[in-house]
Amino acid sequence: MSIQIFGGFFIKMENKNWEKGIEKVLFSENQIKDRVIELGEEITKFYKDKEEELIVVCLLKGSVLFFSDLCREIKIPMKMDFMTVSSYGNEFETSREVKIVKDLDEVIMGKNVLVIEDIIDSGLTLKRVLKILGNRGPKSISLCTLLNKEARREADVDVQFVGFNIADEFVLGYGLDFKQEYRNLPYIGVMGPISE
Ligand code: IMP
Ligand code: MG
Repeated sequence: MSIQIFGGFFIKMENKNWEKGIEKVLFSENQIKDRVIELGEEITKFYKDKEEELIVVCLLKGSVLFFSDLCREIKIPMKMDFMTVSSYGNEFETSREVKIVKDLDEVIMGKNVLVIEDIIDSGLTLKRVLKILGNRGPKSISLCTLLNKEARREADVDVQFVGFNIADEFVLGYGLDFKQEYRNLPYIGVMGPISE
């Protein structure tokens, strides 16, 4: 970020480079596309003979791009729904509290629910979300995450569909953010040192 003197004032100029601070590309647009097609096939196969309605849940905001691409590869009837949660408390605590900021519109009792997540890190948030949804009496709940950082796991969560397993690096793009930016990058990159 540069500072300009203008009419005696200091003005902070935003760095308009949308790839600022990206050290390397971890998964290209094409690699993501290919994996999303495969995941769609796996999910279609898993649910195609199940009688109950399928509700596919997008956890906002990080999953939005993955969710919208993946849903187009799920070739059976389904409904989309959206949920926003915020987690409170120290990230080092294993009892992180989760507050629902935007709840589902659909009633999930007796239905098959597939939760779509961008990345599972400690797993603490997701564990709480699955518990909240589980208390509503769905027929089943499964989880699909684009990225899985297994090394950072603190809470046990069963993940049925994983896009890519990754090392303990901070990644950005394709929905994943740093301070709400970078979500619009079409690839997934690794963050380098931030130079403002
Ligand atoms: P956790 O699994 O409860 O620790 O929280 C996972 C959430 O942390 C994800 O949904 C992301 O919003 C965020 N997160 C974890 N790792 C990364 C990363 O490498 N880049 C961007 N966001 C991340
Ligand atoms: Mg998230």
